[in-house]
Amino acid sequence: METRMERIEKDIEAIALFTATPGSGITRVTFSEKYIRARSYIIEELNSLGARISATLGGNLRGRLEGTEKGTACVMMGSHLDSVLHGGKYDGVAGVVSALEAARVIVEEEIPHRHPIDVIVFAEEEGSRFGSGLIGSRAWTGHLSLDDLPHLRDNEGMTYLEAMERSGVLTDDPSVLEAKDVKAMIELHIEQGIVLEKRGLQIGLVERIAGIRQFLVTIHGVSNHAGGTPMGLRNDALQGAVRIIAETEEIAAHTVGDPTVATVGFVICEPGQFNIIPGKVQFPVDIRDPDSRRLDETAKRILAAVERICLHRGLTFEVTPKSDIAPVALSQEVSSLIDKVARRKGIEPLRMTSGALHDSSIMAAITNVGMIFVPSKDGRSHCPEEFTEIKDIKLGADIFLDAMVQLSS
Ligand code: GLV
Ligand code: MN
Ligand code: MN
Repeated sequence: METRMERIEKDIEAIALFTATPGSGITRVTFSEKYIRARSYIIEELNSLGARISATLGGNLRGRLEGTEKGTACVMMGSHLDSVLHGGKYDGVAGVVSALEAARVIVEEEIPHRHPIDVIVFAEEEGSRFGSGLIGSRAWTGHLSLDDLPHLRDNEGMTYLEAMERSGVLTDDPSVLEAKDVKAMIELHIEQGIVLEKRGLQIGLVERIAGIRQFLVTIHGVSNHAGGTPMGLRNDALQGAVRIIAETEEIAAHTVGDPTVATVGFVICEPGQFNIIPGKVQFPVDIRDPDSRRLDETAKRILAAVERICLHRGLTFEVTPKSDIAPVALSQEVSSLIDKVARRKGIEPLRMTSGALHDSSIMAAITNVGMIFVPSKDGRSHCPEEFTEIKDIKLGADIFLDAMVQLSS
């Protein structure tokens, strides 16, 4: 029982063609034309295996291989196909194609399984289109209700449900996923860090996923003439924002310190002209930490800096919460199964914490989740340079396949 490297490679290359920014990385936002084409590729492959295809609450794709025992909880495997802007071709895709390849081997080799096996493509994992991530898994597991979804809008003002409908993704099964429905789940993912590569290792076993706190800060100042307004008479929103942004780095790097990380990923400055003092600035703050108390402390200190700096400079502000996802421990049971399978193949997986977020964080609230990491070259990810050796993905997929077969038997 073994996955085939050439098929994994072919799938990754085929999906990489569906990008809105060819030559400049992968941009495939949820429910866009490129996203739907990548999703259709997976549907076609799953159809050829005889899988039963459906769209769940939140627009996740589910391809089911029925088990021999009707009505039992399923085992899940999957990841996501949506990308960040100008991202790489492995983030999410490595996990989706490993699940697809595992399904192929299970069908071709007629491996018996009592439990249904579901290949899942989670929708809007990255939050690139609707400003908040893990939407598909959160909606499906009832962490976001149908009342919340209409409030999620993209930059053009289109709601999540409208975008879903327009792209032709129609929910076949509106039920909320519950613990009784799922026995376990495994996600394979690229590491998106440099730990495995530095140690010369091929496989990581994720024990914990860091939590996240994201909020959008809007600073209001007073727009005025850049030539006519003396320095002492300004309420420059950008000057306030840069001090808060600098302090954000200081708080994460030194006041709270490792492993806390905080990022300001963009700044929008209005009106945005050489000769106008900025009247309004918006920027997001993204904080990650495996410990929720440190996450709280970092957020509290950054918000205090916003308040203090704005007060001092005669600026006003608003803070809009975007994501608040607690750190999670993954299943020890599934992890030891993965560990055992890997060791039988002569691999000693490195136990590690994921700094990046995954749908597994959400799924862990309702089922036993395990995650397998494969190395990222130079630790680069969320950029066009993202690269993982196919042989490493294949090794991860073989461990994944073996563990899935045991879980579903
Ligand atoms: C997704 O990649 C995230 O960690 O934000
Ligand atoms: Mn990502
Ligand atoms: Mn990902």
